[in-house]
Amino acid sequence: MAVAQRAASPAGPDGPVANPYSVLPNWLYPSFVATGLGLFSLYALYVVLFQRTGESGNYLSPFYSPFIWKTGPLPPAVWITWAPLAFRGTCYYYRKAYFRAFFWHPRSCAVGEPQRRGRRYRGETAFPWVLNNFHRFAFYVTAVQVGFLWWDVIQGFNFGGHFGIGVGSGILLLNTFLLSGYTFGCHAFRHLAGGGMDCMSCSRARFRLWKGITVLNVRHDRWAWASLFTVMLADLYIRLLIHGVFVDPHWVL
Ligand code: FES
Repeated sequence: MAVAQRAASPAGPDGPVANPYSVLPNWLYPSFVATGLGLFSLYALYVVLFQRTGESGNYLSPFYSPFIWKTGPLPPAVWITWAPLAFRGTCYYYRKAYFRAFFWHPRSCAVGEPQRRGRRYRGETAFPWVLNNFHRFAFYVTAVQVGFLWWDVIQGFNFGGHFGIGVGSGILLLNTFLLSGYTFGCHAFRHLAGGGMDCMSCSRARFRLWKGITVLNVRHDRWAWASLFTVMLADLYIRLLIHGVFVDPHWVL
């Protein structure tokens, strides 16, 4: 009721309309997104272009997994990170977030767009945004990479052939758990499981899978932000170990 009342109370015929969903200033969320994505992009560029390794003992940074090309003219992370970056860059949630934050297109619900004289709105039908339609292919590649990350988690508990628990093991576990929640809550995966069916109950396996994905999909934005943060945390932690800033506290059984 409150939403309906606020939605029906514009400030004027051509003036701004009250956002029915939030009382926060409409620049706040785009600013948060621009800051968060900007900082992550700078950090990722630094790691991918200027760092040659992300391995410390039994820990492997997610920027390097699977760590196949250790030598060569290109930094090793270049071979890996294109997939998760393409996955995030074409993600339905991030598309909304970065269109609002960086292009004000639009900045928020119920906010007009900046004037673009002579430019026709083409949605995502022209280059480069048409590439966003390849999101499901990025999903296929990233889903495989998540399998490698779970292997890295197992290695993170392997201290010279003995089971152990370290702070790094916990960070890798948390990161891969959140990345899995983000990856397998993908809209494209949900469509793959439940799309194109006229009768959901005719395939119980697909229906159950679709319901499970929906549980993750409902909070897709939160999985996206939490996993973005832990990817950076995991790499930073391992990088500090590599540079000998401190020693990983761990207990071997
Ligand atoms: Fe976000 Fe697919 S829609 S990862």
